[in-house]
Amino acid sequence: MFSTLLATNVPPAAVEPCVQLRQLNHWYGSGSNRRQVLQGVDLSINPGEVVLLTGPSGCGKTTLLTLVGALRQVMDGSVRVFGVELQGSTRGQRQQLRRSIGMIFQGHNLLRCLSAEQNVQMGADLLPDLGYRARRDLARQWLRAVGLEDHLGKLPHDLSGGQKQRVAIARALAAEPRLLLADEPTAALDSRTGREVVDLLKGLARNQNCAVLMVTHDPRILDIADRVVRMEDGQLMDRGQGERLWGAGRLPDTGREAAEG
Ligand SMILES: Nc1ncnc2c1ncn2[C@@H]1O[C@H](COP(=O)(O)OP(=O)(O)O)[C@@H](O)[C@H]1O
Ligand SMILES: [Mg+2]
Repeated sequence: MFSTLLATNVPPAAVEPCVQLRQLNHWYGSGSNRRQVLQGVDLSINPGEVVLLTGPSGCGKTTLLTLVGALRQVMDGSVRVFGVELQGSTRGQRQQLRRSIGMIFQGHNLLRCLSAEQNVQMGADLLPDLGYRARRDLARQWLRAVGLEDHLGKLPHDLSGGQKQRVAIARALAAEPRLLLADEPTAALDSRTGREVVDLLKGLARNQNCAVLMVTHDPRILDIADRVVRMEDGQLMDRGQGERLWGAGRLPDTGREAAEG
């Protein structure tokens, strides 16, 4: 029995992907205005994996992210996130699922009447069994991590675009998500802060086994990726497998060592 197992070289228990897209199609508009923006997208992401999604403006990246984030109803094809099928899902199922997903979208979505600290604390509010003081300390810790320790009490109105983006990032991370969806999170940041932020995201992926799906055009951060997936006209190139960078330890174009950390 044992030798048979050895002889057939049984692989170790397969990791269950936390995101699994199968033949995903999406349209906007209706009738003669109907326009298909996603076409037969297949993509799997494993826990702890950092996948970057690139591609020209208008090719469907944000649409893909909002479908995975259960912010939009799936029209055709399958979207499974943590084993939950979103095609035909109920509003309650989607709400429940969103508690495990951190989202950093353009436009920040900060509450205007709350300070930076209170906005981040809202992220920590999703964690069970934490008292007020613990949540406040956590919020401060994440704001410090994104370099905003001197701006805790400021309202979004009094922060720059880049600072608001960092508050949004801190809020997403404070909820300790198992999946993080980020839409060009470094676009409004200078290169040093952008680097710090993606290093934080990479650390989160490592330490909390959190999967990251990040849309970016920023070539400076490609080295944090396990995989880079390219989209064109609503389709993934390489059938969503993308280019594996991390395992190789080197970046394909520069020959530079992939960064540690
Ligand atoms: N709510 C919407 N209604 C109609 N068309 C939309 C909507 N959102 C996006 N689109 C269109 O769908 C296409 C894909 O958009 P999007 O997913 O935002 O692309 P990307 O993020 O890659 O720039 C674009 O042509 C865009 O104009
Ligand atoms: Mg977009």
